[in-house]
Amino acid sequence: MEIRWDAIERDVAACQRCRLCEKRTHPAFGEGDPHATILFVGEGPGFEEDRQGRVFVGPAGQLLDRMLAACGLKRGEDVYIANVVKCRPPGNRNPQDDEAEQCLPYLRAQYALIRPKIVVCLGAVAMKHLYDRDARITKVRGQWREKGGVWFLPTYHPAALLRDESKKRDAWADFQSLLEKYTEVKG
Ligand code: URA
Repeated sequence: MEIRWDAIERDVAACQRCRLCEKRTHPAFGEGDPHATILFVGEGPGFEEDRQGRVFVGPAGQLLDRMLAACGLKRGEDVYIANVVKCRPPGNRNPQDDEAEQCLPYLRAQYALIRPKIVVCLGAVAMKHLYDRDARITKVRGQWREKGGVWFLPTYHPAALLRDESKKRDAWADFQSLLEKYTEVKG
């Protein structure tokens, strides 16, 4: 079956696969370079993302943009940003497993079209669904894993860095490592 961007986006806009559709204002589909080398995956939309229908545009997103800029990267330029769930979990709670399971086919379809060489899991939810179901983010952050020729890196979610400044040093080391891997895969 051929997967197309417009078809996935249309399906997400009309999606009622889980309870998160009941309270959403807008789904946040994802954005960036459709042929990006690096795919960043967060958890799910927050208040501002739900209002605007865009990913990572609230305080955590602004921090992510600053971290990208510090590495010479930019959303939209060889970078795509998406989430595990496309609709906001009420009160910014974590998405439940059944909600993530219902939504992940959309992320898989995005992944299949982008064909990234690097996937950065931002936080424990993305880490759990894309990297290692049983791991703890504090233990595995910064540890690269290769799966089918694609490199996966878990790191802290930018919202966690806003809550706890002491995590910034490790997160920065992870972004340096990301930059090294990026240079390597770009050849
Ligand atoms: N947090 C996320 O995980 N994703 C967003 O899009 C915004 C905040």
